[in-house]
Amino acid sequence: MITVKDNIFYLTTKDTSYWFQITKYGHLEQVYYGPYLREQSIEGLRFKRTATIGSSIAYDQEDVSYCLDNLPLEWSGIGYGDYRFSPSEIKMPDQCFANDFIYVSHEIVAGHIPIEGLPHAYDDSCLEGEACLEGEAHLKGNSWLRERVLEKEEKKATACETLKILLSDEAKKVYLYLFYTVYPKVNVITRRTRIENHHKEPLVLRKFLSMMLDLPNRNFKMITFDGGWIKEANRHDRKITYGMHTNFSTTGASSNRHNPGFLMAEEQATQHKGWVYGFNLIYSGNHFGGIELSGHDLTRVVLGINPHCFEWELKKGEAFDAPEAVLTFSDKGFNGVSHHFHDFINEHIVRGDWKGRQRPVLLNNWEAHFFKFNQSKLLHLAKQGKDLGVELFVLDDGWFGERNSDTAGLGDYHVNKKKLPSGLKGFADKIREIGLEFGLWFEPEMVNEDSELFRKHPEYAIRIPGRRNTLGRNQLVLDLCNSKVQDYIIESVGRILDEAKVSYVKWDMNRHISDAFSPTLTNQGEFYHRYILGLYRVLEEIFTKRPHILLESCSSGGNRFDLGMLCYSPQVWSSDDTDPIERLRIQGGLSYLYPPSTMGAHVSSAPHQQTLRETPLSTRFNVSCFGNLGYELDLKYLTRLEKQEIKEQIAFYKKHRQLLQYGRFSRIESLKENKVLWQTVNREQTKAISGFFQTLTTASEGYDVLKVFDLKKEVMYQITTKQQNLYIKRFGGLVKHILPVELDPNGLILRTANKVHKLDDCVESYQGDGALLEAGIRLNNQFMGSHYNPETRLLGDFGSNLYVIEVVEEKEEEK
Ligand code: DGJ
Repeated sequence: MITVKDNIFYLTTKDTSYWFQITKYGHLEQVYYGPYLREQSIEGLRFKRTATIGSSIAYDQEDVSYCLDNLPLEWSGIGYGDYRFSPSEIKMPDQCFANDFIYVSHEIVAGHIPIEGLPHAYDDSCLEGEACLEGEAHLKGNSWLRERVLEKEEKKATACETLKILLSDEAKKVYLYLFYTVYPKVNVITRRTRIENHHKEPLVLRKFLSMMLDLPNRNFKMITFDGGWIKEANRHDRKITYGMHTNFSTTGASSNRHNPGFLMAEEQATQHKGWVYGFNLIYSGNHFGGIELSGHDLTRVVLGINPHCFEWELKKGEAFDAPEAVLTFSDKGFNGVSHHFHDFINEHIVRGDWKGRQRPVLLNNWEAHFFKFNQSKLLHLAKQGKDLGVELFVLDDGWFGERNSDTAGLGDYHVNKKKLPSGLKGFADKIREIGLEFGLWFEPEMVNEDSELFRKHPEYAIRIPGRRNTLGRNQLVLDLCNSKVQDYIIESVGRILDEAKVSYVKWDMNRHISDAFSPTLTNQGEFYHRYILGLYRVLEEIFTKRPHILLESCSSGGNRFDLGMLCYSPQVWSSDDTDPIERLRIQGGLSYLYPPSTMGAHVSSAPHQQTLRETPLSTRFNVSCFGNLGYELDLKYLTRLEKQEIKEQIAFYKKHRQLLQYGRFSRIESLKENKVLWQTVNREQTKAISGFFQTLTTASEGYDVLKVFDLKKEVMYQITTKQQNLYIKRFGGLVKHILPVELDPNGLILRTANKVHKLDDCVESYQGDGALLEAGIRLNNQFMGSHYNPETRLLGDFGSNLYVIEVVEEKEEEK
């Protein structure tokens, strides 16, 4: 809800308040952003100016205490005394860098305001078609009408609203718009900016961010999600001290180095308690986020397009829109903020046919085959997958042109008949005959020099004239600033999708941008942003026309995991790293910003191809099931027991899929460093699944406690360990102690026995109400070498268990 009284803007969500006011000089002064407050509180909250602060520039000699440097602001310019990090750097029409944007007017409109060419959040609880709804209601009788009217009222109360404020640097005829869209139900406010030049002389943007926000410091730390290939989104905490703390990307994509989303939390915040602010950007290119602490205890948060190599000229009548930034706050710790982000993404970012829809269990052939496959290998793999319960078969890289390694063929999307003699459509039909949906890999933004496309159209690739060019994974980037290249991709990819009736696409992008240059641009400062605008146009054209296709975006794993891509692709391949212990950090890190329904998570073989870590099959599943489950390994090398276990895993996943993909996901604080606890609870609070993961074991592990949050305190629940296999080989030489005869632990008999014989891992079962579950259940002892029995939990290194929690139905006679 947005209201305005006495020059104060009150932006209200279900649990938060965001207030700012127009100062006597027309600047927008931030007043408060935090837990919901009633409006009467405003006086006490206002920042006081009873003394002048030395070394300050007075904005106006009439009031020397009014110094922009010391005010908490919603936007700040340059040249009038604010020396903190500025959200813009503009060479104004009069050639100076000074700018001072002053309030002119505002309007409040229902719903969101789309941004041309850029993805943005949306609200489909719009009130169109209301009249016909009521007409129909009469036909359907009163109870239906009552329900719909209530539904409509709720929609009205929770629908988003937008505040559009016009500011002007009056003397220079340059207008700045600040947009605030309030999504009340999910506790999110989005912000963005637009600049228009109405001056006869051009202006040049060298930096133009999406938002700026000044908040009083509370001993904050900045939490970022960083890494690189196969180690994306690991959480890092930095204390905010004086000066600037940044989080940015220069690779041309949002990058695996630093996800655009970051948090600002008071130092003592935990997963469940404390003040946490969350920020993210609906953008897939170079981003820049920062937090600066000033000498007067104000923290300035900025976020937007990275000014790195950015320059944009606006002639008279032209405008520039910055991408939309997403803000949220919770006093319920990190999980509080994550829940807001999760709901926001599921409701207001992901769109189309796959919004809120259960995602299929897929089998991807990449890690099974890499480039070495033929039709019979693929069909054999697909059939085995079908037997285990898989629903979608994904043919990854290597199906086209001369793509037999990563050195050739990229760009030539015509089927390789040596590998697939029945053609792509023929092959896809065979997959469908098996009873699976068919999905296909592309890397449409790239080209190998050794390809027909490059030989025919070398000008499609990005290179700087007169300079040597650089390759990444032996490939060049196509010039998506060029509309001819965009059209080529739209046509060639679209044609294949229709011909083969593809129902899922993995859209890959495997290198960072270098040699940035497009002959289509007169100003190369526009390159990075134009590339992303080109990409968005391509995605829009291909996929909005084919809404039945489930798009999974990928960039060597999670190199482009961002809200911009999520507006087109409901899920993203989180990482090329499928080692479950690494995934605890990767999926765990991503979960601060993105819900499980957005994360591709696959079970692969062990020892793991990148880390060589040997992990139990159960743990590989237990981690992957907190995302969109897939399998990515050569099934023919699995034992009968392992196949049986996978079949059970898939059946379990399908049974609980709604909960695992769309439940309320939380990270549970663990007292010990070698434990990770995750949980997900359904909306009705009748069902939950908890994951208990042990990274490295320690000798003689103490008592483990399983805490489950967010259930109803007074309701009784049954909690039971999910049954899983325990393979004899985990015991190594110890087996001789439990067998009547002594056998060589590495010998043939035991290796064979391991394939056909397994033990059941410890299963525990308890009843308790939600309050007890929150206090924690003390689990059985872990195995510690003293002896083994089926009541002992055998975790060791990398062991884990899932616990299923379900409400205990009251028996009729007890009611
Ligand atoms: C990188 C992706 O992340 C992998 O999953 C796979 O699709 C390869 N590219 C194929 O080249």
